[in-house]
Amino acid sequence: LLAKMVVDKDFVIGNVDDRLYGSFIEHLGRAVYGGIYEPGHPQANEQGFRQDVLRLVQDLRVPIIRYPGGNFVSGYDWKDAVGPLESRPRKLDLAWRTVEPNQFGMNEFVDWSKAAGSDVMWAINLGTQGIDEARNVVEYANHPSGSYWSDLRASHGYRKPHNIKTWCLGNEMDGPWQIGHKTAEEYGRLAHEAAKVMKWVDPSIELVACGSSALAMPTFAEWEATVLDHTYDHVEYLSLHQYYGNPDNDTATFLARSVQMDEFIDSVTAICDYVKAKKRSKKKMFLSFDEWNVWFHSHESDKKLDPWQIAPPQLEDIYNMEDALVVGCMLISLLKHADRVKMACLAQLVNVIAPIMTENGGSAWAQTIYYPFMHASLYGRGQSLVPLIQSPKYDTKEITDVPYLESVATHNEETGEITIFAVNRHLSEKLSFEADLRSFGACKLVEHLVLENEDLKAVNTAQSPGTVKPHTGGNAKADGAKISAQLAPASWNVIRLT
Ligand code: AHR
Repeated sequence: LLAKMVVDKDFVIGNVDDRLYGSFIEHLGRAVYGGIYEPGHPQANEQGFRQDVLRLVQDLRVPIIRYPGGNFVSGYDWKDAVGPLESRPRKLDLAWRTVEPNQFGMNEFVDWSKAAGSDVMWAINLGTQGIDEARNVVEYANHPSGSYWSDLRASHGYRKPHNIKTWCLGNEMDGPWQIGHKTAEEYGRLAHEAAKVMKWVDPSIELVACGSSALAMPTFAEWEATVLDHTYDHVEYLSLHQYYGNPDNDTATFLARSVQMDEFIDSVTAICDYVKAKKRSKKKMFLSFDEWNVWFHSHESDKKLDPWQIAPPQLEDIYNMEDALVVGCMLISLLKHADRVKMACLAQLVNVIAPIMTENGGSAWAQTIYYPFMHASLYGRGQSLVPLIQSPKYDTKEITDVPYLESVATHNEETGEITIFAVNRHLSEKLSFEADLRSFGACKLVEHLVLENEDLKAVNTAQSPGTVKPHTGGNAKADGAKISAQLAPASWNVIRLT
């Protein structure tokens, strides 16, 4: 099997916004309690932040983290989790049927994010709350001083404003499972009015309106068009969410899912541009793919959990080798749309459908999906280049014309580095890969990283955290501007060049 790619440094898709490598922490399961925050853990600092987890997060170079939900946020009162710990109420979280102790909230998350090297993307509650809370939370977080909410923040020990720049106007408001689910008209109006007052408090903020919670939602497309009709002039981004799974053990289809992700992004872009045209607007709407991942392994075990526990082990997907390939393909899809997708959040970051797992009181380790995300975040910065690909293809029952080669290249003009990300979707055959980088002149190979495992179901665990990890033994060669490599069956490849 032979696949070819041509890239040219002048054929640029777009600048890769650093925030493409964002992630997400929700008050859900053990993401916060027992994940990033575990007072009394041997690795916890005086604020209760686990340093072993923090190091794993820092190594991913995550520029922005969405918080505090997710479905959780649609029943959340941010005021419950500020001020003295001992006076914070315990409340029922109806989204995940747990008890929320509110021992960690906005101020703790801002401190933790600083330590992680990340900015905060704050989601407001537009399920049970409305316009008043929307302006109050911006005043608490960002107003310098001299008003009730900003002075309250100062009294909580945070004199300087947090200056949170990015705000999500609710979460998945199209979903019947959402607390305070709304029609597109209802949500569009509310989001518009909330956006208006939030920007009156702080005109420097950027806002994300809720798009559909998946491509398969029956209201998809109408939802986007209606919401944008109401909010186009007041928001900078529209959100997309998508999770994939392999419940039928049909790996060929599972690996092809990112083709549908490409189509999803193209469709949402088209809807944004339709509304732009309709409004005769000069403004370009950008996309925030603020929830994406593989999610399905934990569905059955989650059904068996007793309700009203604090931080039970929810959504603890244990990821295998093939999940890492799908995550790699999804990252390539995001890079191929770097002109419009400016933010994206791998959902989530710790313990809950996450690249990082912990044991309460014990160790922390990287799951299989940690590695493609880390490679893309470290090496996929700069500009994303148009990949002209000729590849043999395959069909599945559901998805046709799936190229065996999924690939994209990035060029970092500052460092001079070129990176080719490539997945061989063929499950049993090697793929001969040839890339023509003609406009770059003679290239030098830095390294060819490979993530592969004969067992596509191999996983990393606390006992064997190194079962699936990348090696630098790929066989890529650079001959002038011609790059060649044999890509192992079902492998993720990162070919780094200067
Ligand atoms: O990330 C897990 C959940 O998935 C989020 O809470 C919700 O927004 C989505 O349905």
